[in-house]
Amino acid sequence: MTKSDALFSTPRKTAAFKFDHKVAEVFPDMISRSVPGYNDIIQGIGSLANQFVQENSIVYDLGCSLGAATLSIREQVETENYEIIGIDNSQAMVERCQQHLCAFRSPIKTTICQADILDFDYRKASLIVINFTLQFLDKPSRSTLLKRLYEVLQPGGALILSEKLAFNDKEINQLFTQQHHLFKKQNGYSDLEISQKRAALENVLIPETLEEHHSRLNEAGFAHIHSWFQQLNFVSLITIK
Ligand SMILES: C[S@@+](CC[C@H](N)C(=O)[O-])C[C@H]1O[C@@H](n2cnc3c(N)ncnc32)[C@H](O)[C@@H]1O
Repeated sequence: MTKSDALFSTPRKTAAFKFDHKVAEVFPDMISRSVPGYNDIIQGIGSLANQFVQENSIVYDLGCSLGAATLSIREQVETENYEIIGIDNSQAMVERCQQHLCAFRSPIKTTICQADILDFDYRKASLIVINFTLQFLDKPSRSTLLKRLYEVLQPGGALILSEKLAFNDKEINQLFTQQHHLFKKQNGYSDLEISQKRAALENVLIPETLEEHHSRLNEAGFAHIHSWFQQLNFVSLITIK
């Protein structure tokens, strides 16, 4: 059973959000109550993966947290001859992820590495998943990383990128922000929890517009880009090399 998230339920001094052991402990509950469509995206990643994972290839799960995308891929990809490498720079996440994955038997070689996705020595891959992680990097690093990922993708390979979005249109931005807060309230978070978490994420999670994502992906070399999922201000894109 995953522990329920009450990390922001009592008044606290604002401190920058960190993926530490307290967050890792409640993470499945936190992300599914905070990100509209998260469970559908995880499910969809596995289904899309089945179209793209090639024999004898590598799949990367960048910012893998507790391995939800990795598990979905392992469950849904029919070929057995590939390897998954999950990378996360949070020790707490990596330790929990390794324990969590052990609970699911699989013939797929799976390695979870504690490393910065900006420094990793990537090999050729048929699929790269970066699910709600690019948004935590500074903007120049986002561009550098995507260029590197384009280089390591095999022809015909895919990158799946999920992000929280911002909108240039103020009214739409406000509407989706309000609806997102309503989603959290409907999932049991109080106004205090919502506002304290928002303050903690300020300057840590920097959302961008869909246009900014498209233009960065184009610059990195990707030509075929489309949203395959969007709910309110949360999107998942697929790009094919
Ligand atoms: C919102 S979580 C990602 C959720 C996860 N992909 C999933 O589908 O459940 C973001 C993760 O990215 C990791 N992260 C953030 N910056 C990173 C970096 N530079 N290198 C590696 N991991 C990073 C965090 O530790 C955290 O576990």
